Amino acid sequence: MSEPVRSTRIIGWGMHAPERVLTNADLERIVDTSDEWIVSRTGIRERRVAGPDETTASMAAIAGRRAIAVAGLEPDDIDLILVATLTPDHLTPATATLVREAVGNTRAAAVDLGAACSGFVYAYATAHACLMSGMAHNVLVIGSDSLTRFLDYEDRNTCVLFGDGAGAVVVTASAEPGGPHGIKLASEPAGAYKLWIPAGGSRRPPSPESVAAGEHYLRMDGPDVYRYATRAIASTVVAAIERAGLRAEDVDLFIPHQANVRIIEAVARSLHLPMERVFVNVDRYGNTSAGSIPIALVEAVDGGRIAVGDQIAVVAFGAGFTAGAVTFQWTADPAAGARAAAVDPASAAVRRAADWQPPDPTPAALVTVFASRPPAPRADAPGEPAHDPKEVQR
Ligand code: ACO
Repeated sequence: MSEPVRSTRIIGWGMHAPERVLTNADLERIVDTSDEWIVSRTGIRERRVAGPDETTASMAAIAGRRAIAVAGLEPDDIDLILVATLTPDHLTPATATLVREAVGNTRAAAVDLGAACSGFVYAYATAHACLMSGMAHNVLVIGSDSLTRFLDYEDRNTCVLFGDGAGAVVVTASAEPGGPHGIKLASEPAGAYKLWIPAGGSRRPPSPESVAAGEHYLRMDGPDVYRYATRAIASTVVAAIERAGLRAEDVDLFIPHQANVRIIEAVARSLHLPMERVFVNVDRYGNTSAGSIPIALVEAVDGGRIAVGDQIAVVAFGAGFTAGAVTFQWTADPAAGARAAAVDPASAAVRRAADWQPPDPTPAALVTVFASRPPAPRADAPGEPAHDPKEVQR
């Protein structure tokens, strides 16, 4: 590009939500909980569960292919792929390298980024920096997680909260003004062991003992995480808005991490934001971790909630603790989202090891649930969200 880079812009967006739906009624059959408790404490009604052949990489690749199609680019136009995830397909290689091949790219640098549920916002900020420096021209930024595979289905404190899914954006360098103008990333290590997976890393490598002790499952101090989340979301997004030279009332749509509708409503109250300017879809997906913000962004654009020129603020919090917020001006034609429909999910196949055939990774408790009822028929294309996003605006 000959002209100097003055900003970065989102020019493509896409998502993938697995077909299998796990309802609160399903969870009532597994663990001592109730639809009433889950809805009143979290706002979650159902979540998606990755299929036997789906992984974090395969969901990421479908979302990524859709984002590239919406951008009107060829896969090889992408020169950096960032995959935010805390549930990679393997400890190594990086999920992003598998995704690079699956989206049909032959030349991009590819790397994973781990900041739990804040991962997508951290990756978006990183992409912006790489573009502004001239290091890359088109970056594919993906958030993808399959946390249903890392939950203890005897622990009602955690197993009702999470779902699987992926979202992606293509960010490009631009000579025009616009794009992100307020970024705030934060971390708070005092919360490191409030939300964590003890084993599987170098501190406690996998062993029969670590498996027997349930040390590979997500552990969480819910009330402490709740307190951190309400505080961190508000302070982080306010900092990002101030850095952009804006006020909260200038922001047309807030897209917060979709973990719990009570957290979202508490933050909205503290910022004096009407809920009409806050996007919510946690009722249908639960907490999809790094997938949460990009899935919400895609549904907001495709659902007619975002117009050219709108000021958008995305804000996430997660394990670490981490938090991140970006304010940016929307510049792409929302109608381009229709191009995602042309992408065949089967075209984004992820390479597998030739000499290793793992069994179905679906947790046994969920296999039992799904085996006892036929899959819910979806009216739309496989892998597409089955709902009109406009139905769930609050
Ligand atoms: N069904 C029924 N009862 C339950 C359930 C359940 N699924 N889970 C907990 N309870 C019970 C508890 O055992 C407790 O019972 P007791 O009073 O007899 O001891 C009671 O409900 C209240 O429990 P609390 O934990 O105090 O409930 P709270 O109102 O705080 O809600 C929740 C719990 C929903 C987990 C909330 O604390 C929360 O949302 N925290 C934030 C979690 C979060 O967002 N995590 C993701 C972070 S992002 C990332 O990086 C992965």
